[in-house]
Amino acid sequence: MNILVTGGAGYIGSHTCVELLLEGHQIVVIDNLSNSKETSLQRVQEITGKPLTFYKADLLNEPAIQAVFEREKIDAVIHFAGLKAVGESVDRPLSYYHNNVTGTLVLCDVMKRFGVRNLVFSSSATVYGAAEQMPIREDFPLSALNPYGRSKLMIEDILRDLHQAEPAWNIAILRYFNPVGAHISGRIGEDPNGIPNNLLPYVAQVAVGRQPFVRVWGNDYPTPDGTGIRDYIHVTDLAIGHLRALDKLSQNSGLVTYNLGTGQGTSVLEVIAAFSRACGRQLPFKIMQRRPGDAAVSYADPSKANRELNWFTSRGIDEMCADTWRWQSANPNGYD
Ligand code: NAD
Ligand code: WQD
Repeated sequence: MNILVTGGAGYIGSHTCVELLLEGHQIVVIDNLSNSKETSLQRVQEITGKPLTFYKADLLNEPAIQAVFEREKIDAVIHFAGLKAVGESVDRPLSYYHNNVTGTLVLCDVMKRFGVRNLVFSSSATVYGAAEQMPIREDFPLSALNPYGRSKLMIEDILRDLHQAEPAWNIAILRYFNPVGAHISGRIGEDPNGIPNNLLPYVAQVAVGRQPFVRVWGNDYPTPDGTGIRDYIHVTDLAIGHLRALDKLSQNSGLVTYNLGTGQGTSVLEVIAAFSRACGRQLPFKIMQRRPGDAAVSYADPSKANRELNWFTSRGIDEMCADTWRWQSANPNGYD
């Protein structure tokens, strides 16, 4: 198939491009490079030995997006492009709503104009707000705790309304849990700007000496070791989930929604221990106050995606840390 990947130069997008190319798809990437480097796409082509087409364009620039659809034949779109930093979204809500929501509206408008009605959308477990029960199922109540999460929930609502009005659309809403890891080659990986907020990139920077120690946000949660528990998912397993979602859309699925997680919870101290094994030295950490807004525990029930997409994760926390370490140690300053 001919697949348009928005945000394809980013972390999850670049790993998905690798899997798409390996499965024989033709891909066109649109990215404004606001949070990524074109080097990632060069490396995608190097890993796979296959070419892709890249347009540096902003989704908010409708004529530019339309021009891509005029030039390229597109069967389906995987839509990763968006801003994703929770704290920044609290400080800059208008940028987040404009970029994420308006960007998606522009994309859907242009898709409609060109008769392209197959869409895979990157949603997030953040749309479950503070879930009261674990594991989290797709039919749990939805809510948002910050502008980033609200932008994802708004887009989900827009896509549900669109499908209601125009049932010819096939839309897969994928709710990711905590994506981590890197391609096994160590050539592509996560390259956050500034000091990372997320645990794995922070631990990786401690391992290469860019940060002195891991700050553990609280050890007084009601969990076995007192630290927060999350469902970390290897980015390659996550990427493959998008291929299975495309298969589903090609069966004229209508609108479908899936959790992409492993179903396994791992604590902060277990992550630090796994990364220490991966890099061969005990990483230093300090217990700090809880981070406001953090849940004690979050993990998926992925059984719907297992059953309906025939999609299963196969990479555990040790592999996630080993692959992150391979990427971080070979590229201590990311793509710079
Ligand atoms: P990323 O920042 O690495 O990738 C997003 C890409 O989109 C970047 O390359 C950026 O330059 C591009 N982009 C942003 N706005 C754009 C615009 N207006 N026009 C064109 N390109 C634009 O992020 P990621 O971690 O790869 O996340 C991909 C998607 O998955 C995002 O929508 C994110 O919200 C969602 N998601 C991420 C996580 C996570 O923890 N990484 C979890 C759940 C959901
Ligand atoms: C994981 C655990 C922290 C950093 C966020 C977004 C969510 C999603 C993924 C996009 C928690 C602890 C963290 C550190 C720590 N993104 N921690 N020290 O908060 O589950 O999810 O990213 O959709 O929307 O909210 O991920 O990696 O920040 O935290 O102790 O330096 O690690 O308290 O228990 P989170 P995270």
